[in-house]
Amino acid sequence: MQDILKIMQERRSVRMPFDPDRPIAEQDLRQILEAGRWAPTAHNMQNFEIIVVDDRKILEDIGNIKSTISDTFIQENYQQLSFTEEELLHKKVGLLGTMFPPSWRTPGVKPVVEEGRSRPFPVCPTLLIVLYDPGKRAPASEGDFLGIISLGCMMENLWLMANSLGINFQIISALASGSVEKEVKRILTVPEHLKIAFTVRLGYSAVAPPSYLRVRRDIEDFSHHNHFGNRGFE
Ligand SMILES: Cc1cc2nc3c(=O)[nH]c(=O)nc-3n(C[C@H](O)[C@H](O)[C@H](O)COP(=O)(O)O)c2cc1C
Repeated sequence: MQDILKIMQERRSVRMPFDPDRPIAEQDLRQILEAGRWAPTAHNMQNFEIIVVDDRKILEDIGNIKSTISDTFIQENYQQLSFTEEELLHKKVGLLGTMFPPSWRTPGVKPVVEEGRSRPFPVCPTLLIVLYDPGKRAPASEGDFLGIISLGCMMENLWLMANSLGINFQIISALASGSVEKEVKRILTVPEHLKIAFTVRLGYSAVAPPSYLRVRRDIEDFSHHNHFGNRGFE
């Protein structure tokens, strides 16, 4: 029991560049996909396809797509930010503002995509592009809510397996919408009817990833006993 909790607690996002010359071994990649394979999905629909991208030229082409940043992202990003570690420790949710360039964390300021930051993700030897069909849905599931939860289950399985193999992992949401998604789909010849759900960046960082403050609410903050509002289980 402790082992699985430890793997879950140690799973983390690594946002630094990964060594492009250190590929993921095929057997490790297969283990990661095997973990995804056994994810629970609504009605066992297994509503995903995964493109493994490790061709340098294709990675380069995807990496060269100009990323854009929407006003909606800036506004909603701001709401999740803390500006000191103390504030984040107190709030227990969200992210440290220093993870983002100054203009991305200041409401009212036009976001600037600085040179060198215009790539949609830092370099890596492998990307997993996870696709689904938004034209299908889990039975009677409005907005395919259950299908989308299923994709999240699959994401977590991939992530836990990668981390337990010592492989760094980052989710990249920026490839899943707008003109960037269109361009990625063109490069990878993805059929029109499929949508990118999320992208995974896999690899090994050349130096140990820096530790950063990771916060979570306490159990008492989100659990309710028998009636909503009866906090905790005491
Ligand atoms: C659906 C989803 C989308 C995410 N998108 C991104 C992303 O685009 N870029 C990124 O760096 N992290 C992304 N993350 C990672 C979260 O920011 C991260 O899991 C959270 O801050 C907790 O940090 P931890 O993973 O280190 O525990 C995403 C996570 C999920 C579940």
